Amino acid sequence: MKITIDSSLCSGHARCAAAAPELFELDDDGYALPFAGEVPADLEDAAREGEMACPERAITIE
Ligand code: F3S
Repeated sequence: MKITIDSSLCSGHARCAAAAPELFELDDDGYALPFAGEVPADLEDAAREGEMACPERAITIE
């Protein structure tokens, strides 16, 4: 599983980081940072929660 964050859609709601702080980090302005690499198997549910938490639909997991 991979996480893609569309920075053109991210508006800094920070709900992703609240839902899954293990996966989603924010920059100094509160915007989500890109996620590199594979999501560990035990964090796949957390990744989905982060995806669903974003009101801008800036997060895609595949
Ligand atoms: Fe950005 Fe959505 Fe997270 S707007 S900070 S990706 S909740």
